Amino acid sequence: MQTLDKYVINGGVALHGEVEISGAKNAAVAIIPAALLVEGVCRIENIPQISDADTLLSILAELGAKVSFVNQSTIEIDCTEARYQDAPYELMRKIRASYYLIGSMLGRFGSAKTTMPGGCNFGVRPIDQHIKGMTALGAEVNIKNGFVYADALDGRLHGTRIYLDKVSVGATMNIMIAAVLASGRTIIENAAREPHIVDLANFLNSMGADVRGAGTDTIKVNGVEKLHGGSYTIIPDQIEAGTYMVAAAATGGEVLIKNVIPKHLECISAKLRETGTIVQEYEDSVLVKGASTLRRANLKTMPYPGFPTDMQPQMGVLMCLANGTSVINEGIYDNRFKYVNELRKMGAEIQVDGRIAVVEGGRRLTGALVQACDLRAGAAMVIAGMCAAGRTEIEDINYIERGYENLVGKLQALGADIQVIREPEPTEYNEKIVAII
Ligand code: EPZ
Repeated sequence: MQTLDKYVINGGVALHGEVEISGAKNAAVAIIPAALLVEGVCRIENIPQISDADTLLSILAELGAKVSFVNQSTIEIDCTEARYQDAPYELMRKIRASYYLIGSMLGRFGSAKTTMPGGCNFGVRPIDQHIKGMTALGAEVNIKNGFVYADALDGRLHGTRIYLDKVSVGATMNIMIAAVLASGRTIIENAAREPHIVDLANFLNSMGADVRGAGTDTIKVNGVEKLHGGSYTIIPDQIEAGTYMVAAAATGGEVLIKNVIPKHLECISAKLRETGTIVQEYEDSVLVKGASTLRRANLKTMPYPGFPTDMQPQMGVLMCLANGTSVINEGIYDNRFKYVNELRKMGAEIQVDGRIAVVEGGRRLTGALVQACDLRAGAAMVIAGMCAAGRTEIEDINYIERGYENLVGKLQALGADIQVIREPEPTEYNEKIVAII
């Protein structure tokens, strides 16, 4: 839901200091629905404090799960008493990750009903590979009236071999979730290899599942009868870390980014080094020092371990500041350049043709009133605002707050001049209008 809240940024400050990375959003939004499979208490640490996680926890609670916060980033979820019922439509339609409820409700209850997924809008984002997987596992899947209905024809899913037509993070994880309580073995081929897929597999195995090969393109799941409770700690967020790395490079600062897994950042580090940015890796942190002059660089987004699409908008901003012309090839989505129109308001010179953007560098961005078109585009506008001359206002920040924990606080601690302005809800405006009339 749109709000009137906005960020106000006065640019020109180089970021300096240390920042602690939170738990991985795209791991958490799969692990929370997967807890539905467990008849027992799942203690999950390093949950990011973001609205997508809150939405999924609320959905589980509506299904009868007991959810309690041990502290701000540690929760206990007990789905023992959870029962199959309609989950709240308004909550499910807000986020794309609600599709993981298809796999977890099917696996636990033998039936599932979810809305067609919502989430960031950058081109067509079908779920045909999810449906292909569930059907192969023995479910009948129908889409009608905006809902996805799935029922295990024999009351329980059965193991099978699935070759994904496209490398899909969501389909890989959803099928894994559905398969852990199926009878027999499931083999997922042409699987995605992202770090959060390995994290989900490790979570499931810590609860008694038997998932092997996560992180490779072939994942084997041996079905078990039941999952038991346990404890698990979510990995650090690769994309949050990458966002701060680019912010440090773009503002010409020096930032130690802590609580990361450098291996997961290799592609981002390599690309930043191409621009002349200094990136030093330590055991669980990376130090990023901005270059005095940024060099241009080309990039193509690919499935992991290639350059992540969720870092493409942030790099688009950096290339505006670099000397020379850069070419960005968006290899995953049809239309992930919506942020370019917002950057043009700030003086960027970017030509877009389908999945290709040509960025004329050497620009001095100027502050403007802009919008966050989606989660990562919004993060890119924050970076642009911190680099621009003058004041930038960013609207629709609810997108950004879906996926970045305490972004304003963390950036302020690094020296950024950024404030969040919470506007009154629109209804208050209506009351005022009535008063005038
Ligand atoms: C996940 O989305 C992430 N979201 C996205 O992150 C991320 O951009 C994406 O993976 C790629 O890494 C979550 O994890 C909640 P895909 P997902 O299935 O699973 C096509 C962020 O900013 N496709 O790997 O939806 C699809 O259209 C968000 O954190 C099909 O054709 O991505 C896309 O072109 C944005 N059929 C490509 O595959 C399907 O059934 C990759 O999509 C599924 C996907």
